[in-house]
Amino acid sequence: MVKAVAFGKLILFGEHAVVHGQPALAVPLKALQATVSAEPAPLGSGLQILLPDVATPLRLETHDALTVTAQLVLTHLGAPEPDMVLRLSSSIPLQSGFGSGAAVSTALARALSLTLGRPMSREDLNALVYEVEKIHHGTPSGIDNTVIVYERPVFFVRNQTLEPFGIAQPFALLVARLGYATPTHITVGDVRTLYEHDPAAIQPIFDQIGAISRHARYAIESGGLDPLGRLMNENHALLRELTVSDDNLDRLCQAALDAGAEGAKLSGGGRGGNLIVLANKNRAAVQEALLQAGAVEVIHTLISED
Ligand code: PMV
Repeated sequence: MVKAVAFGKLILFGEHAVVHGQPALAVPLKALQATVSAEPAPLGSGLQILLPDVATPLRLETHDALTVTAQLVLTHLGAPEPDMVLRLSSSIPLQSGFGSGAAVSTALARALSLTLGRPMSREDLNALVYEVEKIHHGTPSGIDNTVIVYERPVFFVRNQTLEPFGIAQPFALLVARLGYATPTHITVGDVRTLYEHDPAAIQPIFDQIGAISRHARYAIESGGLDPLGRLMNENHALLRELTVSDDNLDRLCQAALDAGAEGAKLSGGGRGGNLIVLANKNRAAVQEALLQAGAVEVIHTLISED
């Protein structure tokens, strides 16, 4: 049996502005992962994809992000449909800003290509998963597939070559999950509409977010982490101006700051999903405040190069 894994991801800075050409910083979230195992199946049974808690397997005829992934892998390799069962399991909550769609596609493409004896290069896999991301997101920037396929912290600028970045000094973040989400293509579409109605007002917001991402990269690469909390707060305020925060995200950010956190911001598409919190000093109190304010879960993660 072949097994392949893909991690979730966390956007630290720059979401939404990244769709409009600004840089963003994202890191793998190794606490959460999708796994796909591949087993041979009886002759003539074709390819079946088994999802957790779903009795009927998906087949290539079904038009679904996972079957499209499998079909794209077979086309890429020039391979016929194999007799095989691909079994998916994932600890990445759906639609929570952790890149679950890109992670399950990546794990599935890895398992399928590996079991056919022709593992795909990261470059090919990244391009393939980006194609699948378009089904979920409409006009994705490509940040999710890039960080998930390369499994490294990335300074991401749309349509530019990948720039991994270094983390001089690992730092801890709390990730609070709200338990509901708005599909990313909706918030991305709303930001686009906002921009098209008044580019002169919105472009400076994108530019400021881009400047924050660059500043944050410098801080993280040099190990001078003091400005990080402030940069997170500023980034969150700009995302509010882009209308992608909501009352719950704002309330949780404020609760974290009131409990002593240095910074907090939404992460990912917004209007639900999750927020990230920097709390070096009062971590236990901040975690408690987040849960009191309505977070359904708080995950501790260490942001490091490996
Ligand atoms: O909702 P998520 O975590 O997949 O966030 C996507 C990030 C956006 O910048 C909002 C969209 C994109 O394609 O980059």
